[in-house]
Amino acid sequence: MADFEVILMCGIPGSGKTTFCRERLFPQYLYISLDRLRTRSAEAELFAFALRRRKSCVIDNTNISRQERARYIPAAKKAGARVVTYWFEPDVGACLARNAGRTGRERVPDIVIRDKSSRFSAPDRTEGFDQVFKVSIADDGFHVEEQK
Ligand SMILES: Nc1ncnc2c1ncn2[C@@H]1O[C@H](COP(=O)(O)OP(=O)(O)OP(=O)(O)O)[C@@H](O)[C@H]1O
Ligand SMILES: [Mg+2]
Repeated sequence: MADFEVILMCGIPGSGKTTFCRERLFPQYLYISLDRLRTRSAEAELFAFALRRRKSCVIDNTNISRQERARYIPAAKKAGARVVTYWFEPDVGACLARNAGRTGRERVPDIVIRDKSSRFSAPDRTEGFDQVFKVSIADDGFHVEEQK
């Protein structure tokens, strides 16, 4: 089995992706976020670094379409990584409510949540993932279920 992992987070804004990373994946995984890095070239550089050094990493973008996810999967597989996704089923009402509780740069316009929800396609193993995990939020926190 591969000795390192590339994780793609997948979910509309407000789903809980970054919170999940913070709770479950820090500090073992190199954190790669286009929002934080600002440019695709910076993101590509950091991703290439992770693959070259065989360092497990997580891509914390919305990654809502197969096309967006395809940006990472072939390179990750070629480098010998296990490729995994944690995805959140879009729940527009809940995401709007959580977004309303955010401040500053974290908060996105509501239209972005609606738009991304309408374009969302759930990831599946045919895209090249070794494992697909569906994440849901309950009163006691995140629940993770593997989808075969
Ligand atoms: N399990 C949870 N229970 C309750 N609130 C949560 C949970 N996870 C996240 N939240 C809250 O929901 C809001 C959105 O979460 P978060 O920032 O993790 O979403 P995101 O998917 O990273 O969004 P974006 O794509 O905009 O970065 C935050 O205010 C966060 O505190
Ligand atoms: Mg986030």
